[in-house]
Amino acid sequence: MATISLSRLRQDLEALARFGKTGSGVTRPAWSPAHEEARSWLLGRLRDAGLSPWVDPAGNTFGTTPSPPGSGAASGAPAYLGVLSGSHIDSVPEGGMLDGALGVLAGLECLRTIRESGLRLTHPLTVVAWSDEEGRYGSLFGSKAFTGKLDPEELPNLRAPDGERLVDAMARAGFNALEAPLAARDPKSLAAYVELHIEQGPHLEAARIPVGVVTGIVGIRRNRVVFVGEPDHAGTTPMERRKDSFLAAAEYALKARELVVKRGSGRSVTNFGVVEVKPGVANIVPARTSLLQEIRELDAAILDRLERRCLGLARRIATRRGLGAEVLPVARNEPAQCAPRVQAVIEAACLELGLPSQRMPSGAGHDAQNLATVTEAGMIFIPSRGGRSHRPDEASDWEDIERGANVLLHTLLALAA
Ligand code: GLV
Ligand code: MN
Ligand code: MN
Repeated sequence: MATISLSRLRQDLEALARFGKTGSGVTRPAWSPAHEEARSWLLGRLRDAGLSPWVDPAGNTFGTTPSPPGSGAASGAPAYLGVLSGSHIDSVPEGGMLDGALGVLAGLECLRTIRESGLRLTHPLTVVAWSDEEGRYGSLFGSKAFTGKLDPEELPNLRAPDGERLVDAMARAGFNALEAPLAARDPKSLAAYVELHIEQGPHLEAARIPVGVVTGIVGIRRNRVVFVGEPDHAGTTPMERRKDSFLAAAEYALKARELVVKRGSGRSVTNFGVVEVKPGVANIVPARTSLLQEIRELDAAILDRLERRCLGLARRIATRRGLGAEVLPVARNEPAQCAPRVQAVIEAACLELGLPSQRMPSGAGHDAQNLATVTEAGMIFIPSRGGRSHRPDEASDWEDIERGANVLLHTLLALAA
């Protein structure tokens, strides 16, 4: 039975982790110098593996098995990609070495293994590193472009939380952001999509199951909720006269959490990841407080309802406190269902390898949710140590990484046969 080489995969994972290394973690935001150096390294690894790499106008990086003779495909992007597998090489600030990197490098390792085995398959195989999965500028940028979901009019206005414009960041990396929509591909160029990823949560480890077969991926609503009060002297203004935007924001954060927990599906979550208080001075009452809020849920109707209720709550709190409230939508991802056929093929691969598996939803967002709108898409999860992710000590056991990569290998072989 064909198997991947863990030592080769481990070497690649450790090599990629050096780009953007910060202490024990990795900081490799999309289009940053560290990310672009990582891309050059990946292009070299794809070339070394004979996988004819190319980069599309949205910065997605691909490598593919050689097209069968007579198919007419020249070098560069072929018309038919066949079975596509991958993930992303950007990271959150102070993230770990596996989120995204595992799916890309395991995909590369699987294609290398298949090339070396000399097996003849009906469909070609392609590996991809999607750009800006972590959403420094919007969300799931590269796969949105590939699946034709980018709004060209939005591109000039997209900014990172630190204010940097997408057009400037992409220009620095040698790309024209306004051309990103040209990355859109005809769905007919794909046979299926499979992504291997760490679970990033505690469920597989707790259940002592080595493989998760993903059934669906949560939708995400990201909104900026701004409370507008008045800047007053923090020593002389009586407490009851203050229009303190921070206190409204604090009340909202606590009550919105309660609402999402009580009125959601039981799996619904919310997070306030960025808080800005203006003018941000110790002796001025906060005049303007902005919260970057995410709400996540698998059921689209529940997600919409939670978003509506949260925004209504923000307005009521502002009115009661004599403040204004503004809501600016930042990003939306729709929930996605994984294809039953791909789930069944992953389960069959687990059976073949003698590995127990468990069906489960994904609480993290993934490019697979965009791919699921244009092709049969699925995901394979492996356990995360302590359920930890989006932090420097994110880790999985090497045995679990090997198992996951072998499940990916046999899934790809079955889908491309
Ligand atoms: C991606 O990691 C996300 O779920 O935000
Ligand atoms: Mn992530
Ligand atoms: Mn990821």
